[in-house]
Amino acid sequence: MKLNLFLLAVLTALVGINLGIGDNPTRRNLEAMPEMVHTAAYKSFSANPNFADGKTLQLPPEGVIPRGVQPLDYAATPEDAARAGRELHAPPMTPAGIERGAAVYQIYCLPCHGAAGKGDGPVAMRGFPPPPSLVADHARNLAEGQMFHIVTYGQKNMPSYATQVTPDDRWRVIAYLRGLQQPPAGASKEAAKP
Ligand code: HEC
Repeated sequence: MKLNLFLLAVLTALVGINLGIGDNPTRRNLEAMPEMVHTAAYKSFSANPNFADGKTLQLPPEGVIPRGVQPLDYAATPEDAARAGRELHAPPMTPAGIERGAAVYQIYCLPCHGAAGKGDGPVAMRGFPPPPSLVADHARNLAEGQMFHIVTYGQKNMPSYATQVTPDDRWRVIAYLRGLQQPPAGASKEAAKP
């Protein structure tokens, strides 16, 4: 009888514990020996005996390129802008790409260049040296690679947009600009303006 009572108590306790620690998908499981599962990683700034300079963070080897980055071998000079115009060519563009280019234009370029590219954006209206019209002949005659260079490195009063606008988005915004520049040169009064 005593044994039965004892076993009943054990059973009740076990059922209780089982309910208590029942499946809770939001909670981590208990790990019996965590060091076996997770290696003791070095923290970024902790000392590290495995490297000659004793640091954990190491500089990447020389010449390493980050993933997804296209190296550009140009300087921020008019000569290299012209060279980019000869060497860099826009990739094929989809309507969705041009739509994306429109969004990029409205975010990053419209403030100075204006909605229609006429150089009358809100920033230019408040005293910033107004940029030349992007729908004038000079801009129409710019090679797309040269525009890519301008957006990447900036030009005179225009700052570089390399950190804000990815290379793919630069080509998209240029494709959108080409659309803004329709109809072709000479077809409207605006196009004749410098
Ligand atoms: C802070 C104001 C500002 C912003 C923002 C800006 N630009 Fe400019 N942009 C200028 C100025 C000023 C010039 C004239 C530079 C010069 O004197 O050579 C210029 C020139 C240009 C030219 C050359 C036009 C020509 O006829 O020579 C292109 C192309 C151009 N910008 C494209 C863009 C694009 C694309 C963006 C958005 C990614 C952009 N700009 C954003 C101010 C700006």
